[in-house]
Amino acid sequence: MADDSGKQKGPMRFLSGVQPSGRLHLGNYFGALRQHISLQDEGEAFYFIANYHAMTTVNDRELLERQTLDVALDYLALGLDPQKAVFFRQSDVPEVAELAWVLSTVTAKGLLDRATSYKDKVQRGISASVGLYYYPMLMAADILIYRSNIVPVGEDQIQHIEMTRDMAQFFNNTYGEVFPLPKPRLDIGAKVPGIDGQKMSKSYDNAIDIFQEGKALKKRVMSIVTDSTPLEEPKDPDVCNVFAIYKLFSTEPEQEELAAKYCAGNFGYGTAKQLLLEKIDEMFGPYREERRRLENDPAYVESVLAEGGACARAEAQATMKLVREASGLGKMPVPAGKMISTP
Ligand code: ADP
Ligand code: TRP
Repeated sequence: MADDSGKQKGPMRFLSGVQPSGRLHLGNYFGALRQHISLQDEGEAFYFIANYHAMTTVNDRELLERQTLDVALDYLALGLDPQKAVFFRQSDVPEVAELAWVLSTVTAKGLLDRATSYKDKVQRGISASVGLYYYPMLMAADILIYRSNIVPVGEDQIQHIEMTRDMAQFFNNTYGEVFPLPKPRLDIGAKVPGIDGQKMSKSYDNAIDIFQEGKALKKRVMSIVTDSTPLEEPKDPDVCNVFAIYKLFSTEPEQEELAAKYCAGNFGYGTAKQLLLEKIDEMFGPYREERRRLENDPAYVESVLAEGGACARAEAQATMKLVREASGLGKMPVPAGKMISTP
């Protein structure tokens, strides 16, 4: 456990979730999955497929099941090791819904009113369900139920983690210290642009998927939006979407070399796109075979999730025991010598 001064007793606990709301993309990888996988060697890692959260946008049984499997396949193919990290489905730990309720009773409504992701989603036409509004409550419960210290995410989730810290403090101030205050952790791609230059997202139709390949991948990369500077003219790499994505895949000398070509002129965006395509193939090519192999072994994938779920649930139940005792939901204390008589 850690207090807010950062003093840590025992290993760091990392926790994060990804919604099964579509195929995972480069933003998910460089913002979240990459650090999830590397952190599994640095502490206790808990990662889950946020299927309760995805129900705010996916209301189709088969689609939700298929997308849940897709996220599991992506993680496992990219190197998530179930021997090192606890990997599970959010809904295998129904206690999070209970904790969300308890937290909601000590959280001011104004806190949720300020959530920008809710406003953004409603503006994009997602139905303003109570669940969508309540989303940050459930996310706080996800984080706190495992008494997590570090939450590795992309930039768009920072506000949710700040809200989680507030909720943990409200609870601790009301009932006594149960929760450490979690901190976010960002990676190199905290806000990866999509092919249109906006934040890459499953729901903006602007994503390049991690496991896209061949013609489909090429078509996607070639459609990255660039400006209309003529071929001969110098170009500014710092305002180019292709360059921004290329940076994630390359070393500093490689970036400098490409930047010099942009600045020299007589260099077209098409060539830059071709270089990016090669980088994507080079980085993800080796994982594609593994993903296909796992796709043919759904029983293995299910066994990983089931085992992870059982482990996560035991941990969540231990926290809920503390929560229940602290808040008066627990069993009546029985004075010594007064055993409860059974008829
Ligand atoms: P999406 O916005 O595509 O639906 P999610 O909300 O499921 O993605 O996000 C899963 C994880 O990936 C979160 O940690 C989120 O912050 C991160 N993430 C999503 N899009 C990006 C992006 N464009 N750049 C960096 N990180 C991202
Ligand atoms: N809201 C996150 C997203 O859209 C997914 C998520 C749900 C999550 N619960 C979480 C992330 C807990 C980190 C911790 O990406």
